[in-house]
Amino acid sequence: IQKNYEELSKWTADYIAKRINEYQPNEKRPFVLGLPTGSTPVGTYQELIRLNKAGIVSFAHVITFNMDEYVGLPEEHAESYHTFMFENFFNHIDIEKENIHILNGNAKDVLKECSDYEEKIKAVGGIHLFLGGMGADGHLAFNIPGSPLTSRTRLVDLNYDTVVANSRFFDNDITKVPKQALTVGVQTVMDAKEVLIVVNGYKKARALQKVVEEGINHMWTLSTLQMHPGGIVVCDEEATMEL
Ligand code: GLP
Repeated sequence: IQKNYEELSKWTADYIAKRINEYQPNEKRPFVLGLPTGSTPVGTYQELIRLNKAGIVSFAHVITFNMDEYVGLPEEHAESYHTFMFENFFNHIDIEKENIHILNGNAKDVLKECSDYEEKIKAVGGIHLFLGGMGADGHLAFNIPGSPLTSRTRLVDLNYDTVVANSRFFDNDITKVPKQALTVGVQTVMDAKEVLIVVNGYKKARALQKVVEEGINHMWTLSTLQMHPGGIVVCDEEATMEL
């Protein structure tokens, strides 16, 4: 529990930088990092950019896999997760472009896109650290309530709450929000060696209580983190209001 958003962003960025830096360079594979979108990780990305520019951490040997992407939104659309990631993070760090993986929500064969994504993760030996956020209904990536806890990368229909929550990025017009997405599954995230979830603000307080204090269940998909030996939630004081 950190005092505020700034502190939680710093803590998270320091943790990620430490993990990348202590990773043994003589191992055959690079460090593999899972990444989210959303407003919560923006502070962490800013801090990681600062650490990168200060020479404290390098992403030159880091491979990334993003969690999710809207279906049917052009890649160059201002609100695609692709655009978000480049504007908020990748354009400002020393990562190799070929090491960046983001699901293609415009793929002709989306089912193949999803199974290929799982194969790509497998091919690099799995994810070392998956950073994530949480929706106000306790969802992880786009694993909305009711998603199987054993789910893998797939096509999903977004629920009403998620469409409404995300309409703030689409002129508050729910008709403009894509209704489908490609997302890693709950199990895809849980397969990572470590899962680090950032939670900020009183709007997430109820979900945080459900996720960490109540039973593990598919209606609050992040609750599965309770079973993960390397699971960490980093939150600010406001988010703990219901604990
Ligand atoms: C979307 C994303 C999630 C994210 C959530 C919360 O649903 N797919 O990965 O955790 O939004 O976003 P925010 O951090 O803006 O509250």
